[in-house]
Amino acid sequence: MTIIAFISQKGGVGKSTLAQALAVEAHKKKVKVLLADCDSQQTTSYEWSKITGKIPCQVFNSVKEVWPLAKQYQLIIIDAPARTSQGTLEIAKQANLIIQPTGASRADLAPAVKEFNALVKAGVSKKKLLFVLNRIGSKAEGEIAQGYLKDTGYFYLPISLPEKVSFRSVQNEGKAITEIPYKTLRKQTKKLVEGILDYI
Ligand SMILES: Nc1ncnc2c1ncn2[C@@H]1O[C@H](COP(=O)(O)OP(=O)(O)OP(=O)(O)O)[C@@H](O)[C@H]1O
Ligand SMILES: [Mg+2]
Repeated sequence: MTIIAFISQKGGVGKSTLAQALAVEAHKKKVKVLLADCDSQQTTSYEWSKITGKIPCQVFNSVKEVWPLAKQYQLIIIDAPARTSQGTLEIAKQANLIIQPTGASRADLAPAVKEFNALVKAGVSKKKLLFVLNRIGSKAEGEIAQGYLKDTGYFYLPISLPEKVSFRSVQNEGKAITEIPYKTLRKQTKKLVEGILDYI
């Protein structure tokens, strides 16, 4: 059994987007997966799952309610609410992989690195922490952001997600970004998600 959590202090960075894509691709591979929507105020993933109708998804008021279910699933994906390091620590301690999506600006990257630093300071292994760059505007922007992350010593996925209106449209239809009708983008998002699944 594996627990993968999507966390960040900031909202709108792509936690739910990536959690949903990972759930869809794992489900396609016949992995017994649960998408745990731990943002009980927004319930974004739960509402999305009702449209897809195929991904098991449950809302949790407290992440502590997730752990007893661990034995029933091969993969639990935690879609966490945007919140501070303290709130994330409980998740980070239990999860096998903690993914933090982030934008590419300094204003995005610096606090994202601080968030991981706080987790490491609290005893979470650096090896469990992974950055994914999202909402990238250009190749150059992506490369500069990757250079920044490289210097921090944290792991990051070599594939970043571009900012695309079509990602929003496909999610509105209850699909994942890996199911986008455009071939090149679909290939890119699938490769990114495969990259995450490789970690388990
Ligand atoms: N690469 C992208 N291109 C375009 N839109 C995106 C991209 N990534 C995410 N979005 C959109 O941005 C919005 C916020 O994304 P998402 O819900 O995944 O963020 P979140 O980190 O879960 O936010 P919150 O902290 O509020 O739960 C959604 O409408 C989503 O479709
Ligand atoms: Mg969310």
